[in-house]
Formats: sequence, C-alpha cells, structure tokens
Amino acid sequence: MPFPIHRPRRLRATESIRNLVRETRLDPANFILPLFIVPGEGIRKPIGSMPPQCQISIDTAVEECREIHSLGIGGIILFGLPETKDEIASGAYDDNGIVQRAIRAIKRETPDLLVMTDVCNCEYTSHGHCGLIVDGDVDNDPTLDWLARSSVSHARAGADIVAPSDMMDGRVEAIRTALDDAGFSKTPILSYAAKYASAFYGPFRDAADSAPQFGDRRSYQMDPANAREAMREIELDLDEGADMIMVKPAMAYLDIIREARMRYDVPISAYQVSGEYSMIMAAAANGWIDHDRAMMESLTSIKRAGADFILTYFAKPAAKLLG
Ligand code: PBG
Repeated sequence: MPFPIHRPRRLRATESIRNLVRETRLDPANFILPLFIVPGEGIRKPIGSMPPQCQISIDTAVEECREIHSLGIGGIILFGLPETKDEIASGAYDDNGIVQRAIRAIKRETPDLLVMTDVCNCEYTSHGHCGLIVDGDVDNDPTLDWLARSSVSHARAGADIVAPSDMMDGRVEAIRTALDDAGFSKTPILSYAAKYASAFYGPFRDAADSAPQFGDRRSYQMDPANAREAMREIELDLDEGADMIMVKPAMAYLDIIREARMRYDVPISAYQVSGEYSMIMAAAANGWIDHDRAMMESLTSIKRAGADFILTYFAKPAAKLLG
C-alpha cells in the first residue's frame, strides 16, 4: 500500500529540490555547431528554412568561431559549398578546397576550438550523390578512395576529428588506414554509423546545396524502420576502427540512441538535424510552442536517451540560456 506513504510530488515541490534530483543536465561543452562555409568574403547569407542560420564565408566563420569558443561550446563541424562541382567531387579532397582553407583560418585564430569535418561528397558532386555514380547508383568501393583522401586533407589542414557521413561500406577502415599511412594516427574518427534516409534532412539540402539530382539516398542510407540493422552498422564501424559513433537524426531515433548506449561503451553522439531544428523554429515563430522550452526539452531528451554530445543548430542559443 504505497500511498499515502509514498508521494513522488514531495521531490517536485520547489526548484531547489527539483534541481537536486535532476538526472540529466545539459552542458554547452557537449554541443557541436554545424557551419556552412561558402566562397567569398564578408558573407552571411541567411538559410531561409533554418533561421537565423547562415551560409558564411571563411572570414565570417573565423569571427563566429571566437564567439562560439567564448560561449563554451564544445566545437564546430564544417560543411563546405565549393565554387564548382563535378562528377568526381574534386573539391572534397583538394588541399585548397573550401573546408581545408576554412580549417586553416579557424585554427590560426582559435586553435583551442575543436574542429570536426563532415567527410562526404554530396556537396561536391554535380549530381548531388555521396559517391561515384555507375549505372545510376553510387558505386561503393571507388568512393572509399575519395573519402580517404578527403579525410587526410582535412587532417593535414588541422582538423581535430573527421566524421564520415556517406554510409559507404568499409569507409571507416579505408579512412583509418589512409590517416595512419599519412602520419595521422592520432586523429579520431567519429562515424555517422547509424544514419537514416530521413525526410528531416530537407532544410540541410538547401543549406548545403546537396539535394540529389535524381533518385534518392535509400541505397546507402538506412531504412527508418530498422533498429537491429543500426546495431550491426555500429558494430561494423567499431570493428573497422571508429573511435566514436553517431545516430542521425536524433529525436525520431531516440530508441536507437538508447540501445546503442546500452550495448557499446564508446562515446555516442546524435545529430539533431535541420528538419528537427526547423520544425521547432517554425512552430515557435507562429507562437504555437515556446522556443526556449522546446529547444531545451528536445536537447534534454537526446541526452537522456544516452547521447554524450549533440550536433545541433541550437548550440548558441542553448549555450546562452545555460549561461
Ligand atoms: C551529407 C550530410 C547530410 C547531413 C549531414 N551530412 C545530408 C544528407 O545525407 O542528405 C544532414 C544534416 C541535417 O539535415 O542537418 N551526406
């Protein structure tokens, strides 16, 4: 007969008690802010579907990074929009590519800010797919070479962590081998291990100009219906040498984050993707939900599910709120 002996409301009565027994806390050090780098100077071009996110030039990014660092945010992840695209994603693995130049500029000014790079080809290919197209589909094995070369050129430019998001089989091993051969055995790999073919990437494809020109990504990204397959993907990436793994998107896949947390003792991250961000921003702009509370609740749910760190477009406003 628990009641009236047990009254869970006792521990909810005041802010000081709630604060004492709170199980999950957010910390700006666990946020990673994605940045979209474009050619040019002094550029801050609003991304319509993701207000107030902007495409920014390298000089603007350098300024931004000072603020990001001063807010105590854990780091950034860079996406690049090259001047020109081609069939073979040359811009992705060019030592003078947009991301490589951005890394060098940012590291010069804020050497202590953690810089991750997204390793993928879709922003650099004319067809918008993540690899070499053969017979209308992405051909896995030749694509590994592009990914390995991109990773090495990012590391050479000064990237702290490389994060492959392409979902090719065997990419972690290819990248690990190439990094080690080039003398970057200390550069960690954060693999987008469980990345789903998701509608929630919609706004990102505007931001990064990376929508596939034909077909979709379902022959390489995962089916949203599959959870066991995610564990298999994670296991394979860890076997191949991934240091940390990611689940993406976050909020529609909290069960995957939790399952991975229970099974694997490696750092786990989650990507609160563009569509998750835009939904909250749009509803808040309409006055339908409270921006700050929805932002913090969504981030808390991702951490509570088991993510150690979160890639999120909310990094700055959330860090400011955590003060
Ligand atoms: C590149 C990549 C994508 C995202 C991160 N890396 C797009 C995609 O796979 O289509 C999505 C991020 C977001 O929606 O915020 N492959």
